[in-house]
Amino acid sequence: MQIPENILSLLALVTLTGASPIKTTEKFQWSSKKGLIAFGDSYTYVQGIHGHQNYSFIGDALNLAFDEETLLSNMIVQNQTATAEGGPNWLEYLTNCGVQAGLTSPRTCKKQLWDFAFARNQQHPLHHNFTVSLVNQTLQFKQYAYTPLKKFLKPKDSLIAIWIGINDINDSSQYAVDFPTFYKNLTQTLFTSVNELYTLGYKSYLLINLPPLDKTPGNQASSTPHPNATQVGWYNAALSEQASAFQREKSDVEVRVFDAHTQLSAMLDDPPRYGLMNTTNFCAGYDQPDIDVNYLKYGCPTPLDTYFWFNSGHLTSHVHQILAGQLEAWLQG
Ligand SMILES: *[C@@H]1O[C@H](CO)[C@@H](O)[C@H](O)[C@H]1NC(C)=O
Ligand SMILES: *[C@@H]1O[C@H](CO)[C@@H](O)[C@H](O)[C@H]1NC(C)=O
Ligand SMILES: *[C@@H]1O[C@H](CO)[C@@H](O)[C@H](O)[C@H]1NC(C)=O
Ligand SMILES: *[C@@H]1O[C@H](CO)[C@@H](O)[C@H](O)[C@H]1NC(C)=O
Ligand SMILES: *[C@@H]1O[C@H](CO)[C@@H](O)[C@H](O)[C@H]1NC(C)=O
Ligand SMILES: *[C@@H]1O[C@H](CO)[C@@H](O)[C@H](O)[C@H]1NC(C)=O
Ligand SMILES: *[C@@H]1O[C@H](CO)[C@@H](O)[C@H](O)[C@H]1NC(C)=O
Ligand SMILES: *[C@@H]1O[C@H](CO)[C@@H](O)[C@H](O)[C@H]1NC(C)=O
Repeated sequence: MQIPENILSLLALVTLTGASPIKTTEKFQWSSKKGLIAFGDSYTYVQGIHGHQNYSFIGDALNLAFDEETLLSNMIVQNQTATAEGGPNWLEYLTNCGVQAGLTSPRTCKKQLWDFAFARNQQHPLHHNFTVSLVNQTLQFKQYAYTPLKKFLKPKDSLIAIWIGINDINDSSQYAVDFPTFYKNLTQTLFTSVNELYTLGYKSYLLINLPPLDKTPGNQASSTPHPNATQVGWYNAALSEQASAFQREKSDVEVRVFDAHTQLSAMLDDPPRYGLMNTTNFCAGYDQPDIDVNYLKYGCPTPLDTYFWFNSGHLTSHVHQILAGQLEAWLQG
């Protein structure tokens, strides 16, 4: 097809100015979405019967491939050891998919949850040789999940959620680098994965920024926290910038960054308002089967649900529940 010259110059102008004459009406309206597709690390993974206990919903880096039957028959596990929080995580609360104890098929949920996050995941270097990096999570999705999934969850009905960076910033906190530049690079890499998903037709992206990781129990006890508040702030600024850049570059997407940092900081500043009583430490018996009733036995003065931190680096399931409620309100606002 011949493209008239005036259209070409119009396109050139559009490219130069970054404006688009084609305004799409497609926006992410959470209430109309039929499912959520997630990527990330331990804060985000859920366990699947075809996954790796303590790590994933499906497969691992040494077994990236799966067939349609395996994907569609997979079930979300919910019990004390099925997340990194000792109970449902933010995605399960947000979608109300997999919150009940036992097994849930994502297909049976009003808002389906398809979660390709992998615990201990970061961009580099990998914690274990079976860890699926974000880059490979999206490649795995593209290669094995996209085609079977889109038969009953269309890209336009999906919200993509990505929460990552927690291991990256922790592992790199003492590098001898210029941090703002380094974080910019990390978040650019993140958006390479977002772009992969964009080429598949997904237009709605929810990103979550970093929690106040300078306030983990270990960091609170230290005069030199790693990462410190400045580093967390730099990373979050880089994430917002990349998100805005991606939004500007693609006129037909909606990218939003949920400010978990602000919400979680507010919980730390005023715990009673959120039913929290312990923000400084974690309960030593957090992973014991009888922790819900016998917390005193483990030297914990109050129940696990009143703690902000579940262990040295994770939030309790209760905090995930509060955050999911705030996120839902924000998605609808
Ligand atoms: C998963 O984590 C729990 C609690 O830390 C541990 O008891 C269990 O052995 C782990 N399972 C695997 C397969 O590593
Ligand atoms: C949780 O469910 C998984 C899968 O059914 C099982 O392997 C694991 O032992 C269960 N954990 C607990 C604490 O019941
Ligand atoms: C992965 O690492 C483990 C131990 O760290 C090692 O035993 C195993 O051979 C490695 N597997 C591959 C495929 O590299
Ligand atoms: C992605 O997976 C490929 C093949 O398994 C592996 O060679 C590569 O190192 C992985 N990349 C990352 C960033 O993990
Ligand atoms: C930026 O990240 C890429 C891969 O993620 C890496 O290869 C490159 O060395 C990084 N550059 C800097 C300046 O850190
Ligand atoms: C945090 O760490 C960075 C990198 O080492 C440093 O430049 C910055 O001054 C530190 N901020 C504070 C408040 O200590
Ligand atoms: C917070 O938790 C730690 C560890 O369980 C405990 O030693 C401490 O007394 C708790 N603080 C409060 C205010 O309950
Ligand atoms: C952060 O990294 C340090 C090592 O640099 C490690 O000891 C610590 O367990 C990590 N924290 C989390 C929450 O992963």
